[in-house]
Amino acid sequence: KLPIMKRGEPGEAIIFGDSAHVLRTNIEQIYGDYPSLDGCPLAEGELGDIADGTMFIGLQQYYKNYGSPYKLCFGPKSFLVVSDPVQARHVLREANTDYDKGVLAEILEPIMGKGLIPADPETWKVRRKQIVPAFHQAWLSYLVGLFGYCNEPLIKSLNDIAESKDRKAEMETYFCSVALDIIGLSIFNYEFGSVTQESPVIKAVYSALVEAEHRSMTPAPYWDIPLANQLVPRLRKFNSDLNLLNNVLDELIDRAKQTRQVEDLEELEQRNYEQVSDPSLLRFLVDMRGADIDNKQLRDDLMTMLIAGHETTAAVLTWALFELTRHPECLKEAQAEIDRVVGDRTPTYDDINQLKYLRLIIAETLRLYPEPPLLIRRCRTENNIPAGGGREATVIRGMDMFIAIYNIHRDERFWPNPDQFDPMRFTRPYSNPDIPGWAGYDPTKWENKLYPNEIASDFAYLPFGGGARKCVGDEFAVLEATVTLAMVLRRFEFEFDSDYQTADKCSINDMPKRTDHPVGMRTGATIHTRNGLHMLVKKRLLE
Ligand code: HEM
Repeated sequence: KLPIMKRGEPGEAIIFGDSAHVLRTNIEQIYGDYPSLDGCPLAEGELGDIADGTMFIGLQQYYKNYGSPYKLCFGPKSFLVVSDPVQARHVLREANTDYDKGVLAEILEPIMGKGLIPADPETWKVRRKQIVPAFHQAWLSYLVGLFGYCNEPLIKSLNDIAESKDRKAEMETYFCSVALDIIGLSIFNYEFGSVTQESPVIKAVYSALVEAEHRSMTPAPYWDIPLANQLVPRLRKFNSDLNLLNNVLDELIDRAKQTRQVEDLEELEQRNYEQVSDPSLLRFLVDMRGADIDNKQLRDDLMTMLIAGHETTAAVLTWALFELTRHPECLKEAQAEIDRVVGDRTPTYDDINQLKYLRLIIAETLRLYPEPPLLIRRCRTENNIPAGGGREATVIRGMDMFIAIYNIHRDERFWPNPDQFDPMRFTRPYSNPDIPGWAGYDPTKWENKLYPNEIASDFAYLPFGGGARKCVGDEFAVLEATVTLAMVLRRFEFEFDSDYQTADKCSINDMPKRTDHPVGMRTGATIHTRNGLHMLVKKRLLE
């Protein structure tokens, strides 16, 4: 076996830290006539397949050719691509401490610092313990009402559009705005009001998001090159937007610290949120931990949640409306459930429990359009992954990895008719004896939960990841998406705006394969539409 260079050994470029080590190992393996250390096939194909903004679709094609895992090379850089639930379970849960966020952490560090997503394992351990209790039951129940409040401007805007002559609405943008308003108010008690207005702070949030996405698609960290931040106009603009956002967050943190009420965890978890003037997560973190939390750490945590909790939910709302418009029978059933359970009221937590079909729609949307479609890891210590439905492999230290959730969610060995939108599939058990070590899908395992999770599917369904670094906002997101859909679908009907057909009038059913489609798909951190979700809006006729 190749001797592996240790971090900081002579010869390793300090500027790129771990990346230099990975790069060297990869160059030696691929071009230096050394055998591949992991025993995986090398995927070869057109780079164009993955460079057009739909990388996850290209990775699915390679998966069909090479199985799991395979190795993908971009010039001297390579990634191991894992597309199997047993292997994903191993990396995310069983051998979790042997992996970190690798490239993702390097990309996101300038934006999120040591926030939970990019945090190194040591920082993560401390922060995760402090943040998880903030998502307690009393807060989540209260938030359902707050989500309803944040949806009112959206309902009003759609009403105005439905009464206008052309009835046109680009729904992806509307869902992004409502999700931003929700995250602002619930995480740090800030009213963006983005459904109805634009502001420099809102623009700064979008600039940070666009830059984070751009960086995640850029192989070389050009922003680390000396003076680049001063000389490149795009980076100058980004840094000034980031400063603006950081200043707003600093102000909110200072204010929360000055008005801190000392309480213990138990008292905080029993709080009557209806009587609290600032019910935000920031308030909870400050009240619980006090003035001893470093402002920079708090800011990193808030920025992480702002970015992680905003576009993801907007994307699931967008694709849910897209699929419901294509499947009127599912829409009718959802609307009948909403009429029966909620009617014209603002939904409550108990209502959400009863809106089971609507929650299945959200779950099925996340199966077809996982946000993000790929998880990123880097191996910290040489590690063997089990075969599952693929092949065993030795992952060398420093190897970068994609866990292709999109591939797992759309594999017929785990999900029969995988490309079919079928919310009721989550009510039917499924097993496959051909996959050693996979327990199958068992609907009884999520009976008391809000959505069919990774445990019920033994890691074949990973909308919020799994293991120690699973999403902390999973229930928040499901509640938010359910409230928003319940309020919108109760009041409006939608149809695709035919002005947005391409010249050849390609069918909506071609969408996953086509990049020139009027809706189309493209990725950054999440799956966006390529051209917006352009709809015609009509008020619903209610008896
Ligand atoms: C992590 C998905 C909403 C905060 C994750 C991960 C996934 C995910 C897949 C795991 C990443 C990994 O293992 O590399 C989603 C989806 C959402 C959503 C699909 C909406 C539909 C939210 C919300 C928040 C949030 C609303 C906060 C309010 C986080 C944080 C992490 C995370 C802080 C990092 C957890 C850790 O490393 O300990 N999310 N998320 N997410 N998410 Fe979410």
